[in-house]
Amino acid sequence: MKSKNLKKKVAFEVLKFIPNEIFIGVGTGSTVTYLINYLKKIKNKIKGAVSSSYKTTMSLKKNGIKVVQLNSLDRLPLYIDSADEINNNMEMIKGGGAALTREKILASAADKFICIIDETKQVKTLGKFPLPIEVLPMSYRYVMRELKKIGGEVKKRSNIITDNNNYILDISKLCIVNPVDIENTINNIPGVISVGIFSRRKPDILLVSTKKNVKKVFIN
Ligand code: A5P
Repeated sequence: MKSKNLKKKVAFEVLKFIPNEIFIGVGTGSTVTYLINYLKKIKNKIKGAVSSSYKTTMSLKKNGIKVVQLNSLDRLPLYIDSADEINNNMEMIKGGGAALTREKILASAADKFICIIDETKQVKTLGKFPLPIEVLPMSYRYVMRELKKIGGEVKKRSNIITDNNNYILDISKLCIVNPVDIENTINNIPGVISVGIFSRRKPDILLVSTKKNVKKVFIN
């Protein structure tokens, strides 16, 4: 089965996990784009959505789903998003779509985080997918020098300005055996806005689309 069909399948399956009458945080990426198409069908059952990116906001609005700001809510009951890589410990790399900062805020703010992936995203060790880091433009060359001390190859992503008006650096060829340490180390470099390792805020539920079915892993 093509990855596109696996993504569609898991995007459909997660609808069963959405209670009525709540606001949902919505991630960014192609899997989430399929989810938004399905959300259209249940738009009268939910109160609305908090968006993780400009792209997602546009897509939600186009599908008639009300978009509200995180600051307008006292709590966010649920966040749904995909990932670029996930290991057996439920630690992830996210940010392939450059939306990592807002995604991390929504995942952290939400009571429950459901991650929806196709099976190709599961890895033993994180790092095959280049690790994205959002940085303040005025600091990017300094941050690149600091990142080089950690290892791997650091590149500035070309032609990308994030929704927060920042740059993205990607570290490739970095074998991330201790995601918690690497997340903390990179977070502590002045100029870094956020790093695409999600090791502190892991999903509560993981749905994995395989050729046979959608596997459900309940973590919390
Ligand atoms: C967006 O910034 C990312 O974190 C996405 O969640 C991730 O890249 C997954 O994207 P796809 O659903 O397109 O594979």
